[in-house]
Parts: sequence; structure tokens; C-alpha cells
Amino acid sequence: MRAAVLEEFGKPLVVQDVELSDPRAGEVLVRLVACGVCHTDLYTASGADPSGYAPTVLGHEGAGVVEQVGEGVSSIAPGDHVVTLFSPQCRECVHCRSPRTNLCLAIREQQNKGFLPDGTTRLARDGEPIRHFMGTSTFAEYTVMPEIALAKIDPEAPFEHACLFACGLSTGLGAAMYTAQVEAGSTCVVFGAGMVGLGAVAGCRLQGAERIVVVDLSEERLALARGQGATETMIGGADAVERIVEATDGFGADYTFEATGNVAVMRQAVESARMGWGLCTVVGVAGKGETLDIVPRFLIQGRRVCGSSFGGVKGRDQVPELVERALAGDIDVAPFVSHTLSLDEVNQGFELMEAQDGIRSVIRFG
Ligand SMILES: NC(=O)c1ccc[n+]([C@@H]2O[C@H](COP(=O)([O-])OP(=O)(O)OC[C@H]3O[C@@H](n4cnc5c(N)ncnc54)[C@H](O)[C@@H]3O)[C@@H](O)[C@H]2O)c1
Ligand SMILES: [Zn+2]
Ligand SMILES: [Zn+2]
Repeated sequence: MRAAVLEEFGKPLVVQDVELSDPRAGEVLVRLVACGVCHTDLYTASGADPSGYAPTVLGHEGAGVVEQVGEGVSSIAPGDHVVTLFSPQCRECVHCRSPRTNLCLAIREQQNKGFLPDGTTRLARDGEPIRHFMGTSTFAEYTVMPEIALAKIDPEAPFEHACLFACGLSTGLGAAMYTAQVEAGSTCVVFGAGMVGLGAVAGCRLQGAERIVVVDLSEERLALARGQGATETMIGGADAVERIVEATDGFGADYTFEATGNVAVMRQAVESARMGWGLCTVVGVAGKGETLDIVPRFLIQGRRVCGSSFGGVKGRDQVPELVERALAGDIDVAPFVSHTLSLDEVNQGFELMEAQDGIRSVIRFG
């Protein structure tokens, strides 16, 4: 099959033929139809991620059709439409059994090392194994993944929309709906209006927030935020906290969300949360070694800070529900798909992202 291989950090991906072997017990072969290009792919490709490795097949925002299942697979059958999950849901581990987290422990260790759960790879080139990326490796015509890392979705959902639920869109929606659990009637502030921040705006709206203030540096993105339900928008800057506090009767917001990855903005998100009960949810991924500065007084006064991985979404249960809400017209996904590319154009997806041209580039296979 054709796949985009990260050969060397900081160099363009090389699209080439690689070998993919059949799914083993508990695994599924998926033919990819669409895949978004996300920051995490670029982060690893650039070499900035200290845990990155090469060669590997990147990609983790995939959607496709099941072609074949391995022994013992019972929840998924050939022909099913699926979204790939870098954050699986085994439904059995101590975290899966708790409603408080989505961080499934089942296959973490092997996945982080680039292997499938049995400690081997299905990807190879000239007989030499190539490691998987995030347990997904979806910059390829096909992938083999564990059954517990696939969410079965409504076949009515268009693939180029469904794939965004594999990472960016679910992360934003879930941060508001599952991590923060925004209450109806509340005031929310979202810092950053990329895929993740815009998803958070939509999530706040679905939760019934009364005011949704969005802060970004780009007027174009603020316009998209209004389309997703922002009631007020402002250009970010050093005085953002002051302006937010002023706009909220001197108190700050009930819920704030940070979706920029900038630690200075994370601090602003903490400081613009309301005293007494304001909750700041950090979603952005900071650079290696960076730390978040918080003056303890902000915490003593009752503000709380939490982080959110994949929006707290329990993938197999909740991704299908989110896709259903999009099909029902509750989430407007089309404005997020800015460019459609072929697999051969994958590096262009990175260039568009670096130029902040559009929200998402989606690869269409075949
Ligand atoms: N926690 C998770 O599971 C998870 C999953 C996916 C992505 N992420 C992270 O979420 C973050 C956002 O992802 P994205 O795809 O939306 O990125 P993006 O780059 O498309 O969007 C970031 C936005 O932040 C804005 N911004 C930058 N500086 C700002 C400032 N000082 N004030 C206000 N806005 C500012 C930019 O203009 C941009 O619109 C990234 O750090 C990404 O790595 C986290
Ligand atoms: Zn991602
Ligand atoms: Zn689990």
C-alpha cells in the first residue's frame, strides 16, 4: 500500500510503497477514506517531540471502512464505518471503569513505543519493521489497529467530516462537554480559535452557555468563531485578562479554555477565570520543558485548573454520539475543512498549517 513515511526529522514525508500484514487477534484492517492533518503530526515530523521516532507512518485523524477483522473481534465487522482513536477505550481497565477519565491504560506502553498491543508491528518495508504512530498511522491507504481503538459511526456521516472527530474537533467539543461540563447559562472564554478552540466554542454552545467570548489574534478565525456560537470576540494581547474581567462585571468567567499551546496564554486563561468557582481547562500542548506560572492567590480564591486529553472523550462510546449530533445539525463541521488534498500532497498539508491557512487540511484517499 501507499503510505507517507517520516524518514528523517525535519524533512518532508516520503510517500512510498510499504507492506502491511493481516490483522492478528483483536485487530482490524481499515481502508482509510479521509484523514485530517493535525499539529501533533507536524510536531513529531519536525523532531520537536522528544518521544518521537523514525521511520514511522504518521497520521492519527482518520476515518474509513473496515475491510477485515482478526480472531476474536466481535464489536466491529467488515463494512462498518469507523473513526480511528489514538486514545482507545478497552471498557475494562480501572480508568475505563471510572467516569472521571478517558485515559485508557490497556495498550499505552506498547502504543507509545510504536507497537501494536502484542509488541510487534504490521508495517514493514523490505521485510524490516516500521513502527506505528499513536497506534493509528493513518497517512496511508490502510491501517491495522486494535478493535478497542476504533469507534463505529453512522454510515451516513461523510468521511471528510467524520475524520475530524478522531482528534481536533472531539478534543474541543469534549473539553467543554465532558471535562469542564459547562453549565447552562454560564459565561465562557475560549483562548485560541483553531480546530480545537472552535470545537470548544461549539461545545459551550451545545451545553447552553449564555456568553461565549473568544480570544484570538486573527480576525478571520474570530469570524469562524462567531459562526460556531461565539457571542463576543476579541483580539488577544497582554491586556486580555483585564478586558475579560472588565467585560464580566469585574469577576471573570465561569469557564475558561486554553487552546493555543502558549504558556503565557494558559496563565491568562487561569487569571480570567472567576474567583469562587472559575474553572480553567488547559487543552493546548506546550513546548518541551515549558512550565505554567500561576500565582497561588488565584487558586486560594477558588479558581480551579484542569487539563484535558482528547477532550475527556471516551472514544468508542462518545465519538459516535458526537458524530450523531453533527448529523442532526447541532455541529457545523463543513467550515473546518479548508483544503482537500491527496496523500501525495501530505507535505502541503504541513505547509498550509504552518502558514495558518485554513483550519484543517483533509487527505482524501483513492
Ligand atoms: N489536549 C489534547 O488532547 C489536544 C489534542 C489536539 C490538539 N491539542 C493542542 O491544542 C492546541 C490548539 O490546536 P489547534 O489545532 O486548534 O491549533 P491552531 O494553531 O490551529 O490554533 C491555535 C490558535 O491560537 C491562536 N493564538 C496564538 N496566540 C494567541 C494569543 N496570544 N492569544 C489568543 N490566541 C492566540 C492562533 O491565532 C490560532 O488561531 C495545540 O497546542 C495543539 O497541540 C491538544
Ligand atoms: Zn491531533
Ligand atoms: Zn481501558
